[in-house]
Amino acid sequence: MTSNDNRGGRLRIQILPLDPSLHDRKSFHCGKETVDRYLRTTAAQATRYYRAATFVLAAVDNPSEVLGYYTLAPHEYRDGELDLATARALRVHGLQRIPVLLLGQLGIARAYQGRGLGKLLLWSALERAFSTAANSGAVAVITDPADDRAAAFYARYGFATLHEAPFHRMMLPTKTIAAALSRG
Ligand SMILES: CC(C)(COP(=O)(O)OP(=O)(O)OC[C@H]1O[C@@H](n2cnc3c(N)ncnc32)[C@H](O)[C@@H]1OP(=O)(O)O)[C@@H](O)C(=O)NCCC(=O)NCCS
Repeated sequence: MTSNDNRGGRLRIQILPLDPSLHDRKSFHCGKETVDRYLRTTAAQATRYYRAATFVLAAVDNPSEVLGYYTLAPHEYRDGELDLATARALRVHGLQRIPVLLLGQLGIARAYQGRGLGKLLLWSALERAFSTAANSGAVAVITDPADDRAAAFYARYGFATLHEAPFHRMMLPTKTIAAALSRG
């Protein structure tokens, strides 16, 4: 994969599972303290105990510097927790347990924002989510945008608001992801 670097050249990048012995988690700053703090304090332990998986975007030539990251974790709704219209649209109405995937964190380092890396990272997360869904089941990807700007970013890629209270949650059905991936 390549992206433009800030000198007008090409940046060769890769997205790999978090390696706590390689990736410099302390120097990552994306402008959202909650996203920075998760990488600094929680990601390594969550990875070690398989609570959530973290994937890091880095330059091939400088693999220890974290340019961005996201996390995925399994999540489950119980019957009745989803509103009827959503449950019907997802064809899960009446199911006792409804598997989904939580895109828990996603951030791009400040110095690298605005050049397409967020889109690339989200696309990688959706590809990975689709593969997980196809192998073990998950009817949608859900995410809790940190603020209105983050919500606008996700809305661009088809995420719809599931509810606003007690916190803002958005959702993208796996069927929609599958259709987007098949279009390329
Ligand atoms: C949100 C974030 C990941 C976007 O990353 P980025 O690398 O700047 O985004 P990109 O350059 O890939 O932009 C992709 C598209 O989204 C748009 N976009 C970027 N940020 C946006 C925002 N806040 N609101 C609406 N659209 C946005 C861009 O204009 C671009 O559109 P285009 O493809 O039509 O040109 C990044 O700003 C970030 O890390 N923010 C802090 C952490 C955060 O809020 N995370 C989100 C959820 S917790």
